[in-house]
Amino acid sequence: MQAWQIKPAAADGKLAKVSLPEPEPGPGEVVVRMRAASFNYRDLLVADNVYRSKATALIPLSDGAGEIAKVGDGVSRHRPGDRVAGAFYPDWIRGSISESARARSPGATVDGVLAEYVRLPAHAAIGVPDHLSFEEAATLPCAALTAWNALVETGRTKASDTVLLQGSGGVSMMALAMARMMGARVIHMSSDEGRCRRLRELGVDCVIDYKAKPDWDREVMAMTEDRGVDLVVEVGGPATLARSMRAVRVGGTIVSVGFVGGGGTVDPRPIISRAIRLVGITVGSCDMFEAMNRAILQARLRPVIDRTIGFEDAAEGYRQLRAGGHFGKLVVTI
Ligand SMILES: NC(=O)c1ccc[n+]([C@@H]2O[C@H](COP(=O)([O-])OP(=O)(O)OC[C@H]3O[C@@H](n4cnc5c(N)ncnc54)[C@H](OP(=O)(O)O)[C@@H]3O)[C@@H](O)[C@H]2O)c1
Repeated sequence: MQAWQIKPAAADGKLAKVSLPEPEPGPGEVVVRMRAASFNYRDLLVADNVYRSKATALIPLSDGAGEIAKVGDGVSRHRPGDRVAGAFYPDWIRGSISESARARSPGATVDGVLAEYVRLPAHAAIGVPDHLSFEEAATLPCAALTAWNALVETGRTKASDTVLLQGSGGVSMMALAMARMMGARVIHMSSDEGRCRRLRELGVDCVIDYKAKPDWDREVMAMTEDRGVDLVVEVGGPATLARSMRAVRVGGTIVSVGFVGGGGTVDPRPIISRAIRLVGITVGSCDMFEAMNRAILQARLRPVIDRTIGFEDAAEGYRQLRAGGHFGKLVVTI
């Protein structure tokens, strides 16, 4: 089979296309014929050796979808032809995450999905909603499940809530669709006039251009009659957290998801004085993935895909991810 590998010593930098033997399923495992994969911000951190296995060569990307090609002994939950996506944490089945479950993460600590065939434990091959294409389903394992965990499992969003979303990347765009599914009001910020316009075209009434309005927390307060939002899905990290703490209501929740905005220091005192619940999350469990897919199916939600890249052009996907400016997800067709 054909696969891409990140090889620190590869001549063209890091990414190299290789031929590898097709995997065979062991007992309790399946082999998936991958049809699409998607990029996440983390894939840059893996390529840059921030998150990385000690392996010298690694198949990158955590998120992909395809069809079951082969099932191993003892597998009853899947048959060849079933449409599935692989879990981000194959060993986190339910409950809270453990250190051992966190240690196994495709595309970072073990081989990922940028390959024609991928071997998975059967329980970590999660059936995907019928109305989604493989490209759309390939966006579910990390970005969508993180949005679901932030809003539903951890954020406990209600229809009466106002939610603040940051940027128009993969997590935030899926969070937009899910927040609206739950009937919540959304305030959505982006750094670019064109992307702000696209958010308005999608029906978001409260859009803030955070480049034009660097004191965007004041804008949020003005939009909420000085109350603040109930929930912030925080993807900016140290660059945005201080303002997020000023934009959330007293007693509200900040779900800390990412750090795309870079470094910085944050004064934690508002967490105490404003009784903020600040919670970190890391993607979600296989059970959460199944629950999310039921909701996506019922609501006929569709992820926003910025563009689809051919398998041969995977390196271009990295370049586009690094350049930023995407609206939703960058996807590779396999
Ligand atoms: N904890 C978890 O489980 C988990 C899971 C997935 C992702 N993450 C993290 O969440 C973050 C987002 O991931 P992603 O895959 O959605 O990334 P992405 O698709 O690359 O999107 C990032 C977007 O963030 C926005 N942004 C950048 N700097 C910002 C700032 N200073 N303030 C507000 N928004 C800013 C930009 O939107 P505009 O161009 O519209 O401004 C950018 O497009 C990353 O840090 C990632 O590592 C964490």
